[in-house]
Amino acid sequence: MGQVSGKIAIVTGAASGIGRATAVLLAQEGAKVMATDLDEAGLKETLDLIKKAGGTGAIAKQDVVDEARWDAVIAETEKQFGPPSILVNNAGIAIAGAILEYSLADWQKQMAVNTDSVFLGTRAAMRAMKGGGSIINLSSVAGLRGSAGVSAYCASKGAVRLFTKAAAVECAALGLNIRVNSVHPGIIDTPIWQKDITRITETMPAEQVSAMTAHTGGNALDPNVIAMGGTPMGRAGKPEEVAQLILWLSSDASSFSTGQEHVVDGGLTAR
Ligand SMILES: NC(=O)c1ccc[n+]([C@@H]2O[C@H](COP(=O)([O-])OP(=O)(O)OC[C@H]3O[C@@H](n4cnc5c(N)ncnc54)[C@H](O)[C@@H]3O)[C@@H](O)[C@H]2O)c1
Repeated sequence: MGQVSGKIAIVTGAASGIGRATAVLLAQEGAKVMATDLDEAGLKETLDLIKKAGGTGAIAKQDVVDEARWDAVIAETEKQFGPPSILVNNAGIAIAGAILEYSLADWQKQMAVNTDSVFLGTRAAMRAMKGGGSIINLSSVAGLRGSAGVSAYCASKGAVRLFTKAAAVECAALGLNIRVNSVHPGIIDTPIWQKDITRITETMPAEQVSAMTAHTGGNALDPNVIAMGGTPMGRAGKPEEVAQLILWLSSDASSFSTGQEHVVDGGLTAR
């Protein structure tokens, strides 16, 4: 028996990084997984990995900021597998930049993809999870602490943290038997650090950038090098290490945990 056997899960942002590792682990542990993302080629690779792991899954293209698409994804999940009992609101982007130069358009995009999406997903899941369930929202250590050069990202993740607590209290008050928790990874080795949109190098001094940049070019930060500075464990985390925490929160083993912030950061916020 897997730890989430018989459950039906939706994982957003499942074409890459933490979302992919989560989709594969939940499927390995017995859940039927609907993996969604904007990136269809990446989703196909995720589905192959689910099948290789002996799991059951399906994929659906989804932009998590598209309100109507949430209803369609829930309907597709119900048709394929039945009503969902796990939702992992994982899709996210980082748009770094100094406040003095930051545009309103970037601010609104950052908030839409990381925060509006969590509201839309949580609302859709609360409507669809008939027999109860578990909603897991990806925040970050950046939702617990401020950092220069990533203020909009911090704001988006801080909003996820408090929305999660409010939703948990509201679900309990309504007697829905739905738990809602946030997960706060530290520096995790995923492609997010190399994406053009992340732009994190733009706010760093040149010598710091060259020390942290992987060999592949301008914005290609090496998360392991970044982690060495601030993470007591001296390395970046692996997406699979975050997925293990999400698995626990998805399973009945965490039945008395709701509205809480669960940190997985190699000790980064411990000092
Ligand atoms: N990697 C880290 O160090 C780290 C640390 C803390 C929190 N997080 C959070 O974890 C989550 C996953 O990040 P990751 O590191 O695996 O990143 P990633 O870039 O590897 O994966 C993110 C996925 O989200 C998808 N996505 C982006 N915008 C979307 C949209 N509008 N609709 C649907 N899908 C969309 C991307 O296509 C991608 O497949 C994010 O919310 C991120 O903020 C990551």
